Amino acid sequence: MPESITITDNRNGQTVEIPIENGGVAASAWSKLLPGIWFYDPGFTSTAACESGVTFLDGEAGILRYRGYPIEELAERSSYLEVAYLLLKGELPTPAQFEEWRREITHHTFIHENLRKRFLEGFHYDAHPMGMLVSAVAALSTFYPEAKNIFDPESREKQIIRLIAKMPTLAAAAHRFYVGMPFVYPDNSLGFAANFLSMMWKIAEPRFDANPALAHALDVLFILHADHEQNCSTTAMRVVGSSHADPYSACAAACSALYGPRHGGANEAVIRMLTDIGSIDHVDDFVAAVKRGEGRLQGFGHRVYKNYDPRARIINRTADEVFEVTGKNPLLDIALKLEERALSDEYFTSRRLYPNVDFYSGLIYQAIGFPIDMFPALFAIPRTSGWLAHWVELLDQESKIARPRQLYAGEAERHYTPIGDR
Ligand code: ACO
Repeated sequence: MPESITITDNRNGQTVEIPIENGGVAASAWSKLLPGIWFYDPGFTSTAACESGVTFLDGEAGILRYRGYPIEELAERSSYLEVAYLLLKGELPTPAQFEEWRREITHHTFIHENLRKRFLEGFHYDAHPMGMLVSAVAALSTFYPEAKNIFDPESREKQIIRLIAKMPTLAAAAHRFYVGMPFVYPDNSLGFAANFLSMMWKIAEPRFDANPALAHALDVLFILHADHEQNCSTTAMRVVGSSHADPYSACAAACSALYGPRHGGANEAVIRMLTDIGSIDHVDDFVAAVKRGEGRLQGFGHRVYKNYDPRARIINRTADEVFEVTGKNPLLDIALKLEERALSDEYFTSRRLYPNVDFYSGLIYQAIGFPIDMFPALFAIPRTSGWLAHWVELLDQESKIARPRQLYAGEAERHYTPIGDR
């Protein structure tokens, strides 16, 4: 049997046979037969907007792989910086390549003093750190105007390194400003996650040595959040990237997309939900209210996963390791009970709603000591490598500017009446 579909235009009997390639059919063949008839697909639930070799995701089977490597193996054996290299270059680095990569990232963690002093410190005293981060990432393009040379390989590589390296610095700077603490300069003798923790929490000590178990847990969380194929923020990165904007501007758009509660804000919503529930005795009432349509069970359900999110399984282990150091997050018992109730309830199982990565990530962040407002920034730091991997892929492909069609459903032509006659 040929792997193809046949479409018939019933208005004139014309047909077209379109081959199925990589699980998709090309819209170009469809539009030859039916010019001016558009696929109506809000939310892109059935649309593949690109070919990509970065991340494989099978939501039915609960499989996630970066460049072919299972997420479980990477979380267990790799590091965030190695994973960032893998996502961007397509292969795991040799020892020499990794050393060079690590050195480059480590030596680009500083930000221009004007960005901190004049720009970040110009925000209102209680500015949300994510709003500051989005703006600071966009502002970087003014410090590195050569970034617009997106087809110059040397410039491209430089901006990639700068973005990955400076995201933790910017996020920590936003936090320190928000809590009224002085900015902490990066410490190049520390690893990626440990340096971020130092910039978050160092006070007067000459060197801030984070608990290695917590730094490792954060690194694992960074690996789990590094990429997730064509999610909302990566799509934003690709859409802006398709106009050939510089990577800082595209990354700022991706950060903005991540800020929304349906995407990177879900772990914050989970903590607020668990806090509102308040006690395991209220879990049943809460689940009943969700089933009546009064709100959603935050951290449950996923557009693509219709099975247990593989990242949620790994995160369960990481949570245990963190709670061993920090003591158990008091909200954990409520979360566990909620999960148990939902997974044995027909409402959730029939809709194939399982915990996603955000159901437990917020509990870990909170136990490590991060304020809730920092949660989306903690997601944006590692996702930057995924965004950039997709951006590079997009530029290396022969890509068109992203420009969907619409089905116009507004008024027919009508004529202007002067304001006094209305
Ligand atoms: N709680 C209760 N019911 C839910 C939930 C939930 N969390 N998620 C979906 N449903 C129900 C819907 O009410 C709907 O039921 P119906 O068919 O009776 O109307 C059905 O399941 C399908 O829901 P959709 O909204 O159509 O699913 P969609 O794929 O569009 O949404 C989403 C996915 C946005 C993630 C959704 O599951 C949700 O809102 N979850 C809570 C927020 C969350 O955890 N987001 C994090 C996503 S992961 C990430 O970004 C890292």
